[in-house]
Amino acid sequence: MQTIQIKDKTFTVSLKEADILKQVKRVAAEINRDYAGESPVFLAVLNGSFIFAADLMREVTLPSEITFVKLASYAGVSSTGAVKDLIGLNVDLKGRSVIIIEDIIDSGLTMVHLLDLFKQYEPKSVDICALLVKPDNLKVSLDIRYTCLEIPNDFIVGYGLDYDGFGRNTRDIYTVVE
Ligand code: IMP
Ligand code: MG
Repeated sequence: MQTIQIKDKTFTVSLKEADILKQVKRVAAEINRDYAGESPVFLAVLNGSFIFAADLMREVTLPSEITFVKLASYAGVSSTGAVKDLIGLNVDLKGRSVIIIEDIIDSGLTMVHLLDLFKQYEPKSVDICALLVKPDNLKVSLDIRYTCLEIPNDFIVGYGLDYDGFGRNTRDIYTVVE
């Protein structure tokens, strides 16, 4: 299906599953190469990264752990507000090489906040691995070591990403039709 309807919006296919998986495999190979001899811990940021994390991890050949974390906003605070807490972290990160698995980096503010929250756990290193980056929308300088695909500023859904909770379960990625 080339066009889908989610609630009030129409989306058209923009990234096919085969092209996404090709880039996921490329990034996994880079991680396998860069972390050879190490045992990193992957931190997948829920909810959007669950499919990406599953595909990426099955291409990673290093002895590694994965844990799933969530950034919980306090009620009443706008989604752009900085008051967000990390929940679900159940691995001691002290001295560990951490790879953050994120679905999409848009303004970059969420990632900056995450990096800040991680400092207290004293990891050895923290690298960012993003499925998608919207470079034209970045509002902060971020060192994104691994990027599968760069995309324009349009809103997208699919392959784990949602519009108002829906649309995560498509294999391809779709872009909103304005
Ligand atoms: P940032 O803090 O602006 O980088 O926002 C990152 C978060 O916004 C992501 O983790 C997503 O949850 C959400 N987001 C940003 N752009 C999109 C999009 O195009 N589709 C779905 N979610 C998005
Ligand atoms: Mg996210």
